[in-house]
Amino acid sequence: MARWFLAACLLVTSIAVQGSIVPRGYRLDLHPYPGDGVFKGKVRIDIINTGNQSVDSVTLDVHSTLNVVDREVKVTRVANLDSSEEDEVSMEETSLTVTKLEKRKDIHKFQITTKQSLKKDVTYQVEILFDGTLGSDSSSPFYQSTYSNSKHSQLKKWYVAMNLLKGGGAHYVFPCFEKPHLKTWIELSVAHKGDFHVLTTMPLVDTTNVTSEGVWVRDHFSRSPPMSVNSLAMFQSDFKHPPMGENNGNKVGVWGKEDILRSLNTAQKMLPAVLVNLELYLSRPYPLPELNLVALPGYTDDKPIDAWGLQMFREVDLSKKRDDFWIAHLIAKYTSLQWTDHLTTPLFPTSLTLALSKFLADKMAWQLEKPVFNSYVSDMYGMYLEYDKPGFTEIKSQMEALNATKIRFVLGMLEHIFGPQSFRQTIQYFMSSKEYHAYSETDFWNKLSDGAYHAGVLIRNRSPVSIEQIVKPWLQADRLPVVTFRRNYINTTVQVMQEPFVLNDDEDDVSSPARNTKNYLWWIPNIVVSQNNLTVPVRNISWLKPIASQEVEMKQYNFTNNQFVLFNPGSLGPFIVNYDLKNWELIAQHSKRFPVSIRQQLLHDSLTLALSGRLCYVYAFNVSKLIEQEPEPAVWKTYFGLATRLRTKFQGTPVAPKYDIYLKKMLKSVNAALEQPERGESSWKANFRAENKRLLCETGHPTCLTEARDVQSRTNTSNPDEDKLFLDNYLCILLGYGTLDEWEFGLHRIMYYPKNKSQTERLFIFRSLASCPKNETKFVRMLNLTLMSGDHKFSEEDMLTMLTVMSTVSLGHETMFKFMMKNFEYLSTKLEKTVWEYFVKTSFNNFRTEEGLDKATEFYQRNKRHFVSVDDIIKNALDKVKIQVDWVRKHLTPLDGWLTNALQEPWRPHEFQFRDVPSFVIG
Ligand SMILES: *[C@@H]1O[C@H](CO)[C@@H](O)[C@H](O)[C@H]1NC(C)=O
Ligand SMILES: *[C@@H]1O[C@H](CO)[C@@H](O)[C@H](O)[C@H]1NC(C)=O
Ligand SMILES: *[C@@H]1O[C@H](CO)[C@@H](O)[C@H](O)[C@H]1NC(C)=O
Ligand SMILES: *[C@@H]1O[C@H](CO)[C@@H](O)[C@H](O)[C@H]1NC(C)=O
Ligand SMILES: *[C@@H]1O[C@H](CO)[C@@H](O)[C@H](O)[C@H]1NC(C)=O
Ligand SMILES: *[C@@H]1O[C@H](CO)[C@@H](O)[C@H](O)[C@H]1NC(C)=O
Ligand SMILES: *[C@@H]1O[C@H](CO)[C@@H](O)[C@H](O)[C@H]1NC(C)=O
Repeated sequence: MARWFLAACLLVTSIAVQGSIVPRGYRLDLHPYPGDGVFKGKVRIDIINTGNQSVDSVTLDVHSTLNVVDREVKVTRVANLDSSEEDEVSMEETSLTVTKLEKRKDIHKFQITTKQSLKKDVTYQVEILFDGTLGSDSSSPFYQSTYSNSKHSQLKKWYVAMNLLKGGGAHYVFPCFEKPHLKTWIELSVAHKGDFHVLTTMPLVDTTNVTSEGVWVRDHFSRSPPMSVNSLAMFQSDFKHPPMGENNGNKVGVWGKEDILRSLNTAQKMLPAVLVNLELYLSRPYPLPELNLVALPGYTDDKPIDAWGLQMFREVDLSKKRDDFWIAHLIAKYTSLQWTDHLTTPLFPTSLTLALSKFLADKMAWQLEKPVFNSYVSDMYGMYLEYDKPGFTEIKSQMEALNATKIRFVLGMLEHIFGPQSFRQTIQYFMSSKEYHAYSETDFWNKLSDGAYHAGVLIRNRSPVSIEQIVKPWLQADRLPVVTFRRNYINTTVQVMQEPFVLNDDEDDVSSPARNTKNYLWWIPNIVVSQNNLTVPVRNISWLKPIASQEVEMKQYNFTNNQFVLFNPGSLGPFIVNYDLKNWELIAQHSKRFPVSIRQQLLHDSLTLALSGRLCYVYAFNVSKLIEQEPEPAVWKTYFGLATRLRTKFQGTPVAPKYDIYLKKMLKSVNAALEQPERGESSWKANFRAENKRLLCETGHPTCLTEARDVQSRTNTSNPDEDKLFLDNYLCILLGYGTLDEWEFGLHRIMYYPKNKSQTERLFIFRSLASCPKNETKFVRMLNLTLMSGDHKFSEEDMLTMLTVMSTVSLGHETMFKFMMKNFEYLSTKLEKTVWEYFVKTSFNNFRTEEGLDKATEFYQRNKRHFVSVDDIIKNALDKVKIQVDWVRKHLTPLDGWLTNALQEPWRPHEFQFRDVPSFVIG
């Protein structure tokens, strides 16, 4: 006990002592040997003791895989504090005697003890020689790799790249003080063979010969501003760049291997404009003389290797032909890290950095480029679905990306409440207070609180007291709220309730909305507009307390009982809003057209609430009727995803065919407005047409099959891009509406599918074969082939996949059931137990009508004695069917009537003109 106590005390004091030594500059010389897989190096670190006491040891971060040459470790006293004059004063240097070197491999530390003590405020220099091995891919902090310059050339060329932030940190590559807040200048030199070129954080100042013939040379780079060691990078290759751009006198370049140079032009042209816009927003000039981006062959991560002045991207990200909006967005997203990750640096890795990048990228891209179809729907509406994907929380990278997206929308919400101008000033205030330093999440939110008090967004001594208090629940909960706004029509108050939004996709109990077991509560911004004034207020916005239910006075909005009210208009905050039924009705009756963002929100919220069991379908369909007259692609984009989910939800019920007819009528107008494809049309028109067409074809549009055949005959299947286009857009139509022979053609593709080709593609074709057909014969063929043929072409996993996807479409499911009835003997004896049981389960439990339930029950009763081994499975399945049938009767019968009426009314086709610039961009 006593000894333990002593040890703890020693640990505390040693930490306190080592904390007082800080670095004041690095001179780092590296010498990688690409091909040999090793590197050598020398580092001289200026250090200073800022504590009150003298100490006699220095502790550095050194990873155990880095080899330090012990006998070369030196510590000297540098006489003059101003270390830039080192050369003149070198005579006055005095050596200290190193008495002990201790390697703590377990904690990756290296301690140097000297005989003389290190005095306060005196500069010393530690010199260390070291060597290590180069890794072979980008998971290593320092690695070598090869590339070939063209498809036809066998010749491999070497390159060397550094990847400190993701690879584990600078202490793998050189002895250093790795803590992000210990920022100081770095002077780097790199030795290489003459035909290589080195890029790093700073520009080249000098080159010297290492060998007398100049085969090996050493590049010296200028001294950097104060930086974290982990912001350093280097890249050594023979890459080139298109003509360099300029940005306020800084050089900006995009580098790649020689044969892709032409395709880097777009990125090269975009980069200076993006930087200017970031500089304006952040009110800080780009802090370094150069910024170089590299298209790195063999690198596969969608997040680039990120360092100060040098970022390395996947080759396709910078070179593939894409729309300009996408490229501007990508470049802005990552170059903004030059400020938020390097000029100032997070003390610990945090989702906040990426969230800020996304926030800035959205701004920059909308400022610079015309939006495209896919830029319309912000990820916001996707987020609600992501949280409900099974197994989602287990995938860390996805969870982090979603976390960042969520914080990005929380920032957007705050921006509205501050006002864009004042929010921008607050972000600038944060940058100016933390540049050349490090920050924590709390620092960031505290700066926002300061800004909020200054702008009158928060009021002293009134709750909420800080921005951190407001955002905390938003950051911590892995859910988003659904807020219910129930008006009390006898007075002017409203009951506001909140709960975490959970999508009810668990087919076992669709009878009531799913609830989250965790009880999250949020601060909700109280933003309200009413029918007599749809202008969104931007001042004096109050916050509703994080409690489950509260009564809120609305007198100040001055609306009558016959006017609707909208809460959170246009989804300013990332949450869904539900209302009392009367308010929904008033919204649906509104005869004027709402602004685009409100139309999107109303469609999304009402249909999502219906799909999750929180709102009757009829009310949601009354509100979403606005889509029938919709001219704006952005709104359609929101609707396409919802319509797809509705179709799935209605499968197997009488509503399904009616909804398809309803959809077809509307989508035909859109199709007409988009006319025939033409050369040089904008990519968002093309994308809009393609997505509309895909849904239209699903509903059985007659010309689709002809078109699919036409495209198939023109497609060169050995060209992967062409083939993918065909598979994505036309395969399902061909397999569905084509002849049996055409379906067999798809079957052949997977029967002899090469083992070394993409298994994702095989799975895609396989699933399409099992779910696209519109004719029973094809389903029978599929079942026969996978389950009853003796040649074992299909694995057990294939069989289970087929049963799953086939049972989700109603014709497929009916066919399965018939097939089971007919081949009962064979299947129950020949199939593997798991497959047989799954077959029984999926064919029994997907009925959704009274007739289906009767048929299944009768078959079960008649064959009870054969079903002994699967009796429980069938009973459970039938129970589930009863719940489903009940649910369908209760929830879909009114919708059935609604659709019948809608289809009987004379249908005046909605005609509109497609405009290449959306109305809300014009003004
Ligand atoms: C370096 O080597 C090259 C090639 O041999 C030679 O031309 C040059 O003068 C050398 N430079 C120095 C500073 O020695
Ligand atoms: C999400 O981000 C916040 C803020 O950066 C962090 O506190 C939280 O732990 C993160 N959650 C997950 C699941 O990554
Ligand atoms: C307003 O009406 C509701 C519903 O009748 C009632 O519960 C609430 O107490 C009333 N509020 C006020 C301030 O009168
Ligand atoms: C409408 O509301 C906005 C925001 O609250 C306000 O600035 C404006 O004066 C209102 N307009 C009318 C006509 O009341
Ligand atoms: C409230 O609205 C009514 C009509 O909608 C209007 O006549 C009245 O002047 C408004 N009152 C205030 C205080 O804005
Ligand atoms: C299904 O396809 C078969 C063979 O191609 C054909 O004989 C049959 O008429 C089709 N059935 C329907 C309902 O179209
Ligand atoms: C399955 O296919 C084979 C030939 O491919 C055929 O002889 C057999 O009758 C089929 N069985 C069923 C149940 O369709």
